[in-house]
Amino acid sequence: MSATDVTRTQVGIVGAGPAGLVLGHLLHLQGIESVILEDRDRAYVEGRVRAGVLEQGTVDLLIEMGVGERLKREGLVHHGVELRFGGKGHRIPFDELTGGRGITIYGQQEVVKDLIGARLEAEAPLLFEVDDVRPAGIESDSPVLRFRHEGEERELRCEVVAGCDGYHGVCRSAVPDGAFSYRERTYPFGWLGILAEVEPSSEELIYCHHDRGFALHSMRSPEVTRLYLQCEPDEDIERWPDERIWEELHTRFTCEGWSLKEGPIVEKGVTPMRSFVSEPMQHGRLFLAGDAVHIVPATGAKGLNLAVADVRVLAEALVRWFSAGDETLLENYSETCLPRVWKAQHFAWWMTSMFHRMPDDRDGFTARLQRAELEYVCSSKAAATTLAENYVGLELEDV
Ligand code: FAD
Ligand code: DHB
Repeated sequence: MSATDVTRTQVGIVGAGPAGLVLGHLLHLQGIESVILEDRDRAYVEGRVRAGVLEQGTVDLLIEMGVGERLKREGLVHHGVELRFGGKGHRIPFDELTGGRGITIYGQQEVVKDLIGARLEAEAPLLFEVDDVRPAGIESDSPVLRFRHEGEERELRCEVVAGCDGYHGVCRSAVPDGAFSYRERTYPFGWLGILAEVEPSSEELIYCHHDRGFALHSMRSPEVTRLYLQCEPDEDIERWPDERIWEELHTRFTCEGWSLKEGPIVEKGVTPMRSFVSEPMQHGRLFLAGDAVHIVPATGAKGLNLAVADVRVLAEALVRWFSAGDETLLENYSETCLPRVWKAQHFAWWMTSMFHRMPDDRDGFTARLQRAELEYVCSSKAAATTLAENYVGLELEDV
């Protein structure tokens, strides 16, 4: 039977982002069937430029799952990060402070490509360009996903639905009113992100506090640099020709003895900053994971890692249920995930608050507090350890 003919499965997964694809592969490795429905086409999903920082736990899981070959070859392992303020850099050594842990720089779209490759090789069903996915019957034992594919109306009967369809997806709104409570903050700024074809100007990431706003230096490879600038939340990208972007980056990153290398800009985009959590993360036979159920502001680099942490818990719970009929882990899914979600939420909020220029800070009071906090983080081992252990990712047993 080809992927397009399947009408029944154990787990119906909506969304082929990191959450849906990792879940699908973990289930496949345990002999549990799933169908993944994705509304975009394959080229779009594989080309979408987003996250770049993988925690140690995320890397270990991808390797264990057998999708880490290219990651091991091409990923850039970092053992520290620079915090820059007042025109000076201060290094936070992750390895010294966390017992040898670090992060790996590897683009989210590369993770997604590796996972799609593994899914197709396993001949497990993954449908691109599905339209109008409608989850139904999630309070019953046999939920259904209705959708259109290649012009035809289709119906997929499932035992469980996994909503991995991101913040703008449809699954979260399939629950009755009042079943979830939402908590959120929007921040009065966004990030303008670029990819430039130029060798990174530093070996490690640089988080930069400046009176004109936050800036971040990251990378994708020895030939490609990723840079971000704090901007208006609804910034019009048309107002940012390449020369203006470089000028602003040079100003914010100013530091004696250091210069920013320029190269052709091949990608530009604006991302809003938001914190959002839905509780619980499940209702009946619907389980939500990743951005579908929580969003963190990008400053802590936690979104992708949280998505992976959720589906690791969900996969284990589903395996227990399908193979042993034991529902305990599934019932406790939200309770198991939420402590990590809120700790990551706190870290991302803290990093965001410490680095960004606040538009209502008329007399510079907040900016002074930020400088005091940054100085403390860079001079106190205890404070630096707080940043380092959260950045590399809390150990599974700690949350
Ligand atoms: P998504 O990646 O959003 O995937 C959801 C999928 O569902 C998509 O493929 C979408 O097309 C599909 N979909 C949506 N609606 C439907 C529907 N109705 N039917 C079918 N399919 C649907 N995180 C980090 O950890 N580290 C970082 O360094 C980092 N940097 C970031 C930088 C930027 C600029 C941005 C925007 C985000 C960053 N993040 C980072 C966050 C990270 O990208 C997200 O948290 C991550 O993509 C979440 O994965 P997901 O699978 O839950 O959701
Ligand atoms: C990147 C993104 C982040 O949000 C971050 O905190 C660090 C790096 C990146 O895209 O490389």
